[in-house]
Amino acid sequence: MCGIIGAVTVESVSETLLEGLKRLEYRGYDSAGVVLIESEVLKFYKYAHLNKSIEKLSKIAELNSSLATVGLAHTRWATHGVPNDVNAHPHADCTDSIGIVHNGIIENYRQILLHLEKKGHNIKSNTDSEVVAHLIEDNLLVEKQSNQDDPLNFVRAVRKSLNLLKGTYGIAAVSSDFPGQIVVAKNMSPIVVGLGNSGNYISSDVAAILEKADKFLYLKDNQIALITQDNLRLYDIDLNEIDFKTTEVTWSYADAQKLGHESFMLKEMYEQPVAFKNTLADRDINKLELFFDEIHFDPNRLMDIQKVFLVGCGTSFHSAMVAKYAIEHWVRIPVELDIASEFRYRDPILDGSTLVIGISQSGETIDTLAALNFARKSRAKIISVSNVVGSALTNNVDAVMFTRAGPEIGVAATKTYIGQLAVLLGFAISLGKFRGTLFKSEAENYFRELLSCSDKIDMALKRREDYNQLAQKLSGAKDFFFIGRNMGYPTSLEAALKLKEISYLHAEGYAAGELKHGPIAVLDDQSTVVGVATKNKLYDKVLSNLEEVRSRGANVFVVASDSDEEIGKHFENIFYVPDTFELFSPIVDIIPLQFLAYELAKLAGNDVDRPRNLAKTVTVE
Ligand code: AGP
Repeated sequence: MCGIIGAVTVESVSETLLEGLKRLEYRGYDSAGVVLIESEVLKFYKYAHLNKSIEKLSKIAELNSSLATVGLAHTRWATHGVPNDVNAHPHADCTDSIGIVHNGIIENYRQILLHLEKKGHNIKSNTDSEVVAHLIEDNLLVEKQSNQDDPLNFVRAVRKSLNLLKGTYGIAAVSSDFPGQIVVAKNMSPIVVGLGNSGNYISSDVAAILEKADKFLYLKDNQIALITQDNLRLYDIDLNEIDFKTTEVTWSYADAQKLGHESFMLKEMYEQPVAFKNTLADRDINKLELFFDEIHFDPNRLMDIQKVFLVGCGTSFHSAMVAKYAIEHWVRIPVELDIASEFRYRDPILDGSTLVIGISQSGETIDTLAALNFARKSRAKIISVSNVVGSALTNNVDAVMFTRAGPEIGVAATKTYIGQLAVLLGFAISLGKFRGTLFKSEAENYFRELLSCSDKIDMALKRREDYNQLAQKLSGAKDFFFIGRNMGYPTSLEAALKLKEISYLHAEGYAAGELKHGPIAVLDDQSTVVGVATKNKLYDKVLSNLEEVRSRGANVFVVASDSDEEIGKHFENIFYVPDTFELFSPIVDIIPLQFLAYELAKLAGNDVDRPRNLAKTVTVE
C-alpha cells in the first residue's frame, strides 16, 4: 500500500526519487519522504499532507539541488500512527545514521519497542516501522565491533534485525557508514530491483523504475539483496549468496503514462479491447499448455482434478465468479468461490485432487498470497492468474496464466478485469475440450465467439456519449442497487464496486432474485436500480424483478442487448450493448457501467485515479 523507491547511481538521485514518488502517487498516500546520503550524512525530508506531500517535497530547493547519489523515498498509507510529519517515512535510528522505509505491518512492534526503550533508544514516531531502524542500529554496532571494516556488516545487521520481526515487510535501508549501499529485504510485501546503465534501483512497484532500468529482479520472500551502484548481490535468509536471473519487463515507460487522456482510468478503459486481444493472442484451446505462460507440472494431472476453488479479492473475485459459472457449465467439475481473506480461515477441504486458482492483477495482494500459501500446504495443484510478471503470486505455483493488459495505474480495475475474463473463459473452454466435456468443434466455436468480444468491447466504448447522457440523469442520486441473474450477477457486483470506489456513492450488487428476500424493503423513490437484462435464459425473470422494484418507486435503468426491441416499451433509460453470447456477456455488459461510475465520479469532482481511502495494491491483511 505504501510505495518505496530507492536509487544508487553515478549521478544525483533527487530527481529520480521525486519522479519515482510521482509514479507511485496512484497508490494513494497521506505522507511522503526522502532520505539522501550526502558526504556520509543522512538528510531526511518528510511531509504529511493528503496527496500533496510530493508536491511539497518537490519545492525544497536543498533537496532538488542535492548531489547525493544514494537515497530512498516513500509514500505512506497510514496503518499505525496518524498521518503526520514524524510518522512519515523514512525513519531513522537514534543518531540519524540509518534510514529505513517499510511497506507492510510489523505485528509485534509493541514488544520490540519496549525492548528498545529499555535499552535507551529514543523512538520518535507512533509507527510500527521505526523499530526496524533501531534494531539495525544495535546490530550494526555489534557487527562493527566483531568484523571491523567488513563491507558486509550492514547487510548482516539488517539480516539479524529481521530475526525479531513478525509480520510483513518490504524494507529498504541505508546507512551513513556504508554510503554506497542499499539493503532490501522482503516478506510478503513486494520489492523489485532494477538494473540500469547509470546505476541500480529498488522499488515496491516496477512502474516507478521502468524508465531507469532495463533488467529486473523480483525478490522472493526471505531474500535479502545488497545493491550498489554497479552491483547486485542476492542472499537467502542464512546469508548464503544465491544466483539469480533477471527478468525483462515488456511494459514501456509510455505504457505507464496518461498520454493525453484526462485520467489513467479512462485511458485504461479505452485499452480494454487491446488488453483482451493481447491476453488471448497465441493461446490455443486445442493445446491446454498454451494457456500457461509458466508451467511446472504435467498438465495431464488436470484430468484427475475433482474440485476447483477460485480465490481473489474485489474485482478479481468478480472475475472468479464469472469463471466459476463457465467452468461448471463446460467442464462439469464443482467449483467453489472464495473471497481470499476468508478462504484459509474457514478451513476448506483440499487435497491432491483439488485445483486452486488464485487471481490477482497485482500479484501482490496479501490475502490472495496467503490463500495460495494455505493451498500449497495441502498438496492442491495451484494456478495463478496475474498481470504482473515476476509478482509474488507467480512464485511457487504449478502454473501461471498472465493477463497481458499492460500496467494498470488507475485504482479502479478495468482493463485487468477484462484480461482476467479473457484468460479464465478461454481456459474454461480449453479445459472442457481437454477433459472431453466439450467436443473439439464446440470448443472451437466458443473460442471463436470469445475472440470476437474484443470488437464488441470496442463498439460499446464508442457509445460513451450515449452512456454519459444516461449517467447524467443520475446526478444527485445517492443509493444504487445493481441487480442481475446468472452472468448478470458478477457484472452487478463489479458495477457496484466501481461506483463505490470512485464516486463514493452507496451501491450494492445483488442477485436480482434475492432482492425480494429483504433488501427490497430499502427501496423507495430515492433509490436507483440498474438491472443487467441482456438476453439470456433468465431474461424474463430479470424483467419481472425490475418490475417489482419499479412498483416500489425505484428509478430503474437497464443494460440491454441491441437486438432487444421490446425493452424500450417497458423502460425509458437503457444502456444498449452489442449482443453477446450469454457466458461472455460480462465482458461487454460492464462497459456502460464503468462509464456510469466514471461520469458520476467526475460530476462529483472526484479524483478518479486516486480515490479516497483506497490503495491500488493491498499488501496488508
Ligand atoms: C478494483 O477496482 C479494486 N481496486 C480492488 O477491489 C482490487 O480488485 C482488489 O484489491 C484486488 O486486487 P488484485 O487484483 O491486485 O489482487
